[in-house]
Amino acid sequence: MIRLDVHNLMAESIGPRGGLTEESLDRCSRKAQERHRWLMELRDRGKLAFFDLPEQREELEKVMELAQRLRPQCTDLVVLGIGGSSLGPKALHSALNPPFYNLLGRGERNGPRIFFPDNVDPEGFAGLLHILDWSGVYFNVISKSGSTAETISQYLIVRGMLEERLGREEAVRRLILTTDPEKGFLRELIRSEGFQGLEIPPGVGGRFSVLTPVGLFPAAMTGISVEEVLEGAREMAVRCRDERFWENPAMVHAATHYLMATEKGRNICVMMPYSDALYDVADWFRQLWAESLGKRFDTQGREVEVGQTPVKALGTTDQHSQVQLYLEGPHDKVIDFIRVERYREDLEIPGLHGDVESVGYLGGHRLSELIQAEGAATEIALANRGRPSCTFLLPQIDPKSVGELLFLLEYSTAISGALYRINPFDQPGVEEGKHLTYGIMGRAGYEEKRKEVEERPSVNPKYVV
Ligand code: PA5
Repeated sequence: MIRLDVHNLMAESIGPRGGLTEESLDRCSRKAQERHRWLMELRDRGKLAFFDLPEQREELEKVMELAQRLRPQCTDLVVLGIGGSSLGPKALHSALNPPFYNLLGRGERNGPRIFFPDNVDPEGFAGLLHILDWSGVYFNVISKSGSTAETISQYLIVRGMLEERLGREEAVRRLILTTDPEKGFLRELIRSEGFQGLEIPPGVGGRFSVLTPVGLFPAAMTGISVEEVLEGAREMAVRCRDERFWENPAMVHAATHYLMATEKGRNICVMMPYSDALYDVADWFRQLWAESLGKRFDTQGREVEVGQTPVKALGTTDQHSQVQLYLEGPHDKVIDFIRVERYREDLEIPGLHGDVESVGYLGGHRLSELIQAEGAATEIALANRGRPSCTFLLPQIDPKSVGELLFLLEYSTAISGALYRINPFDQPGVEEGKHLTYGIMGRAGYEEKRKEVEERPSVNPKYVV
């Protein structure tokens, strides 16, 4: 079971400048409980769709059946999606498949090589297309709206190439479309051309979709036990339903971080796993926290401009890059460590150069001891300087603990949204950018947006160096 240790967020541990007092956390805990009850009421009315994803059966069976059918013939799986339609499956892959997975031989992997281009940089995408094994490549096109320009452009390019190489019928077989059950261009394609389709339940937006076929199908294709991921999420959902503040880790995470931002000016939240495998979880969290909580207006339409800026860092790597700033720079950060008690593989450091004092002490220790010691040291160094941090403790990285962690962070985001009184499930800013892009690219219906771009003041050459 995952634990969350927040003692280094408290004044009694790190002093009054950065630390929370018991009284202020107590007050906020009551507010969080009240918001939690409101969220649970929403859930009872079927309006908190992500919360019930761990219980799903029907779509899970479809995912398993399709993955089982395609795995033997699929050599490469390319996930075409962006934002929430890519970061979740990528986080599951990095956390739960072996390191350097794509470089392993076919017999050493549990499935096809897997790629997440997640961009439309022509060099990057073309580079990927050059190295694919077209004899057995499948593409999973993921888009809730079915109209995101990046994803649809990628779809158009690969469909064209598949048709050219393998013919139309085979091209249709090689594309699996994950999208809204009713609406959008991709759903229309499934209906009209018979593509294999998977559903993102209504009411679940991109960044909350990792436990839908968005995350589960690519994971199942590479042999990850998606049932265990969901089991972990289910167990966390039980903890997250608890009204008792100190029994509910999502409530504790949300309330402490809300106070950090609103009372302590900690407007940056750094997620720092001491594990390469969890770095992409930090990347996934970055989107979840930023896009959900970064809002201009509250639900009453008042201008509030809230949201902590999430940053990802990696232990120990960033101890030699970022930690100097975290220790001595502006008092504007709270650090969320993720620590792992047991690593899946370990190495002993041999006792060579025992006579060299600066090297010999390492001999006989294990790398896991070194990374643990460095994590503990960073935590203590921060605390000594009054810098707040908390720690998620995973007994080990496995499908269950990852399912727990993802669900905890999702529900913390929902409670945080309720504490700020903003809507964590929309993204009006992102939509604005999408619409301007449509205008620039000449999509019908977006002429006003094009005009808006054209009417921007022309660039003053004085400001171009
Ligand atoms: O979380 C979100 O809603 C966004 O990041 C979307 O996932 C992203 O914009 C892609 O949208 P879509 O899945 O509709 O293509």
